[in-house]
Amino acid sequence: MSLITWTKEQFGTTVSKHDQEHQQLFDLLNNLHDAAGAGNRATTGAALDALITCVVNHFASEESNMKAIDYAGFAAHKEAHDKLVATCADLQKKFHAGQAEITTDTTQFVKDWLCGHIPTVDFLYGPPMNTHGMG
Ligand code: FEO
Repeated sequence: MSLITWTKEQFGTTVSKHDQEHQQLFDLLNNLHDAAGAGNRATTGAALDALITCVVNHFASEESNMKAIDYAGFAAHKEAHDKLVATCADLQKKFHAGQAEITTDTTQFVKDWLCGHIPTVDFLYGPPMNTHGMG
């Protein structure tokens, strides 16, 4: 069973580009969750790398659009992104060095972060981006 499921009601930002990116993130997180649950280190490592690449690209995409509209909440939003990326990069490094494992606790942590971030922080850019024709 999937760890996380995207629905418009729960996660729709009204900006289709970012909604699509969020759905891709959820798919990759579900892949990582399955791999970690199965205990296959090679599959887990590949899934972890794919997820982190997608996270980094998604954050850059949102930040680019926020900058383009001179969004007032940019600095605080970017700070939240940077903090998660630092945590992920540290874990990725330790995992590949054999100093840490990815477990379903890890994937639950990422799920909780996304469930806390998208509906409260990401949702705020919806109206101003729509105003600028970014829906
Ligand atoms: Fe969709 Fe701000 O991350």
